Amino acid sequence: MRTFLAVKPDGVKRGLVGEVIKRIEDKNLKIVGLKMIWLDREKAEKHYEEHKNKDFFNELIEYITSKPIVAMAIEGQNAVSVTRNLIGATDPSEAKPGTIRGDYGLEISENIVHAADSPENAERELNLYFNEKELQEY
Ligand code: PPS
Repeated sequence: MRTFLAVKPDGVKRGLVGEVIKRIEDKNLKIVGLKMIWLDREKAEKHYEEHKNKDFFNELIEYITSKPIVAMAIEGQNAVSVTRNLIGATDPSEAKPGTIRGDYGLEISENIVHAADSPENAERELNLYFNEKELQEY
């Protein structure tokens, strides 16, 4: 099974890309795709389309397009739920110590990482960021 994870602009700016990769690899998940990308508004709105009616939508789009992100395709048994457990609760102030957001984040508007929350969204997000040739079989 594959899932999608992104180190968000605050995580990239703070130099946490290596730490996020280390935690994924330590868990024995396999990184099968990896790229840095600066999202434009159109792609960001597509990624977060399910939240377009939320009052934080504009703030979220401004933030996610403010600097580059690092996108990853991750493979492993139960990759979606295992990766969600690694990153912790959406609001870093509630995320448990030992999770990425619990250890490095403080506010929901800068929560360091994103990971797909369901197999359906994982598939959708992987297709949005990677083409088949960019995903390695090894
Ligand atoms: S909801 O309402 O429960 O569906 O939303 P939630 O799953 O908690 O959050 C969806 C994504 O929006 C981000 N978010 C915010 N960004 C900026 N400002 C505020 N106030 C805010 N609230 C939520 C949240 O981090 C989620 O992003 P991802 O990238 O999916 O983690």
